[in-house]
Amino acid sequence: MKNEIKIFSPATVANLACGFDVLGCCLDNIGDEMIIRKTDKKGIHITKIEGFDLPFEAELNVAGVSALAMYEATKPDCGFEIEIYKNIKPGSGIGSSAASAVGSVFGMNVLLGNPYNKTELTQFAIKGEALASKCEHADNLAPAIFGGFTLVKSISPLEILEIPSPEDLYATIIHPQIEIKTSESRAMLPKEVPLQDAITQWSNLGSLIHGLHTSDYNLIKKSLHDVIVEPHRSKLIPHYNEVKKAVLQNGALGAGISGSGPSIFALSKGLENAKNVKEAMSKVYSETEIKFEIHVSKINTEGIKIL
Ligand code: HSE
Repeated sequence: MKNEIKIFSPATVANLACGFDVLGCCLDNIGDEMIIRKTDKKGIHITKIEGFDLPFEAELNVAGVSALAMYEATKPDCGFEIEIYKNIKPGSGIGSSAASAVGSVFGMNVLLGNPYNKTELTQFAIKGEALASKCEHADNLAPAIFGGFTLVKSISPLEILEIPSPEDLYATIIHPQIEIKTSESRAMLPKEVPLQDAITQWSNLGSLIHGLHTSDYNLIKKSLHDVIVEPHRSKLIPHYNEVKKAVLQNGALGAGISGSGPSIFALSKGLENAKNVKEAMSKVYSETEIKFEIHVSKINTEGIKIL
């Protein structure tokens, strides 16, 4: 059995407008790389972090906390070293903490001979994600582990549904280079919602899921609306309304806040539309002082993988 593996842990888009805390999808060309190594020395040791300034102490590091959860449950006769090559900026809204949280447990699981299934891995990773967002949710973790679109049916007990990805669906994501902490962006949300808004939201989520199952792009387009979270969080994102208007005028099916922001996602049918959406996003932000990155990605149906 191998003693070391290198993995790619992908970025993800959570919420997808109407699916706050339950729906997410996996991206294919942006993610972190991690090396996980089995050692004689017991315990979890983070030995290298490149890309961003993050804590080396396992108990203070998202990848370390999920690794410790699995380690304590498994009690293996070895330890693990973790190297993190972080490409996803923390606080970007595209699942930076989730990529770290799933990377360590996925790698350890492979090195231990795969004792855990994907849902069990997600369960361990929730502990790491909770360190970053101060709350247990799995809508970035599940798509990173399962790939494609996932719906978190329940957190306790954890139940994850895999939703089909229409063949021609692409995501375009603009990441303004400002940081929004998930914990802060969660704290500003109302504790209660008006019944009429809840009705609109669950109608949209139900029809989005149906649209994904039937590859009905028009239904996907009609469903990508968020009447509950977006009105609050969009205030944190500079030029949000301009970006949204521009992408809808340039071929996007719909758009919204990616996770807790500041990234903004759009879904499009076909690569050409997704690239036009990239141009439209770029045009809006080029006229500002704010630096940004844009990713165009097919939906990644594979999820986290060994390199
Ligand atoms: N569902 C989460 C949120 C995703 O929007 O707060 C970000 O971690």
